[in-house]
Amino acid sequence: MLILGIDTSCDDTAASIVEDGSRIISNIVSSQNEIHKRYGGIVPELASRRHLEMICPVVDEAIKQAGAGIREISAIAVSHGPGLIGSLLVGVCFAKSLSFVHTIPLVAVNHLEGHIFSVFLETKPEFPFLALVVSGGHTSIYKVDGFGQYIELGRTRDDAAGEAYDKVAKLLGFGYPGGTIIDSLASKGNPEAVAFPKALLKDSFDFSFSGLKTAVLNYVRKNPEVSKEDIAASFQSAVVGSLTNRIIDVTRATGIKKIILSGGVAANSALRENIKREALEKDFEVYFPSLHLCTDNAAMVAAAGYHHFINGKTVDLSLNPKAYLPLGSADD
Ligand code: KG4
Ligand code: ZN
Repeated sequence: MLILGIDTSCDDTAASIVEDGSRIISNIVSSQNEIHKRYGGIVPELASRRHLEMICPVVDEAIKQAGAGIREISAIAVSHGPGLIGSLLVGVCFAKSLSFVHTIPLVAVNHLEGHIFSVFLETKPEFPFLALVVSGGHTSIYKVDGFGQYIELGRTRDDAAGEAYDKVAKLLGFGYPGGTIIDSLASKGNPEAVAFPKALLKDSFDFSFSGLKTAVLNYVRKNPEVSKEDIAASFQSAVVGSLTNRIIDVTRATGIKKIILSGGVAANSALRENIKREALEKDFEVYFPSLHLCTDNAAMVAAAGYHHFINGKTVDLSLNPKAYLPLGSADD
């Protein structure tokens, strides 16, 4: 069974064909990094305009590379939130039009659920498990009891981890997105050069990264001579330390010894290494998607959409995107 996935939730225009919820047949991502990098972050209006230009060629290419005809597609799965509203509108309107014109069932997927399902494109972890979705827009940890059964255990109270990476890269004079830049810079620096704070909020599984970003800003202003490599490595060590400590807390508190990490920041080399080492030491299992499936893509949306479809969860043309859409909420 072929599912066409579409994702335009942020700054990537993505379409993919996935067979039976796990086998990627085609996976096209058109990045907007070149457009946004000079601004040091995403400009929402430019993002939606670019989605409008790219949505037809990207979906066309996904279908062409799959060697499939539109009639062979069993359902269209689209991210309907959370994300930038203008960006989401392009994908949702396009998916609705395609569904209407070709009478193909439509499925609505929460983008965060998509990130969790990116792991299912390569392996099949058994339920229940924990899932840390850590990206440019989100840092949340969920207990996942089955398909469609998500309980949020903690979330960031301010910036997402990826957002902190992007802001620190910008203040060090680098472009957008900052995650990969800081990741490679950090590999050449000393993670113990500066002891930045690792915020861990007591009596909750929440995260906080905005204090860390401000601490980096103040430090750089006062100590302009310190190398960017050392700042990057010390900042990264604080982020990785906070995320790792939280994961260990949650595995202990829930007794669930299986965790999935997904989202753009899950591509971070230090985070992957650190969590793998802790998992080995503390005897829990950890799953990461391959690097190209950590960042936004539509294969993950098609994979999640497959489970909605086989469980009869289709939607009609009244579907509207939602900028705010917590995973596991009534609207979800
Ligand atoms: O999942 P994603 O593509 O989009 C959202 O849903 O937000 O994540 C993008 C975020 C950006 O903030 C980017 O800087 C970050 O993921 N990122 C990384 C790395 N690669 C991407 N952060 C740290 N290390 C990386 N290697
Ligand atoms: Zn994402």
